Amino acid sequence: MANPLHDGPADGDHATAVRPISNPEHPFAHPAEHEFAAFLDFYRIRWQYEPTSFPLRWEDGRVVEMFAPDFYLPEQDLYVELTTMKQSLVTRKNRKMRELRELYPDVNIVLIYRKNYHELLSRFGYGAVDITSLRPEQIERVLLSSAEIAGRVQELGREISRDHAGSSIVLVGVLKGITFFLADLARAISRPLALDYLSISHDAAEGRVHISKDLDLDIAGQHVLLVEDIVNTGVSMDFVLRTLRERNPASLRVCALLDKAERRLVPLDIDYVGFTIPNEFVVGYGLDYRELYRNLPFICVLKREVYEAKGRRRDAPFSSPG
Ligand code: IMP
Ligand code: MG
Repeated sequence: MANPLHDGPADGDHATAVRPISNPEHPFAHPAEHEFAAFLDFYRIRWQYEPTSFPLRWEDGRVVEMFAPDFYLPEQDLYVELTTMKQSLVTRKNRKMRELRELYPDVNIVLIYRKNYHELLSRFGYGAVDITSLRPEQIERVLLSSAEIAGRVQELGREISRDHAGSSIVLVGVLKGITFFLADLARAISRPLALDYLSISHDAAEGRVHISKDLDLDIAGQHVLLVEDIVNTGVSMDFVLRTLRERNPASLRVCALLDKAERRLVPLDIDYVGFTIPNEFVVGYGLDYRELYRNLPFICVLKREVYEAKGRRRDAPFSSPG
């Protein structure tokens, strides 16, 4: 049976709000399965519960033994069988796993213990949780999984390619939060393109924004797509747009991965929005807190204690906001 929140129809349209995630009531055979489903929900990893029964043994042409692994993770194409420390069960499960692998060599399956849940994550590219010395319990909430981000970036790439049919594009990224998004988006666009970057700084004293690293390219007469990680008040983007417009590009469009629309002070027309998110401070997939956490593969909200403790931490490379 499938998790309805994870397996709804794909949003092919412009539904960009982050889908809520909750743990639906599910007739699990065992509390450990319930716990594992909640773990997957937390990381927003799609799952199905016992979707497939594999015949293992036949007598007189009739199936007499089947094996239905506990979970299937479609984004990873992986079956997961949970196990406890009880040796009698482990032996039986190991036998079934061996037989399944012999009969169905193309099926990927793992047998995991409760203590290995997080190890499983590192197989999905979530290893950076350890690398950045962020403990899983310091994550308040995963807002967008790496698979959700990847899927949306592909959709944005198709839309942008369609809207720029017949022309080349100059992608302008605002450093540094854009690092991973721009790299992924550029590879999802099927038009000839050039990449360029600019940096902006806010001088607190004057309450102004200025360009601290300008473009290398002359964008006059070019079709420009400004790419931003996140738009809050819109002050930064409004400034950048005004600056770029003065240089007479043939067209100027805007793409933002995240939009905290609630915080908007300056009205902006954003042509392509990855996700509209609530008004919370987020990190990961390029977004930082004091230069940390950019390398998390997902986008999440951290627990308050992480920010409060940061000044005392020796592994924080920089103490001023970046
Ligand atoms: P705005 O000028 O108020 O729209 O601020 C946008 C800029 O603030 C972004 O380009 C980010 O650098 C930064 N920012 C805003 N919200 C977040 C967040 O939740 N996490 C990390 N950086 C953020
Ligand atoms: Mg930024």
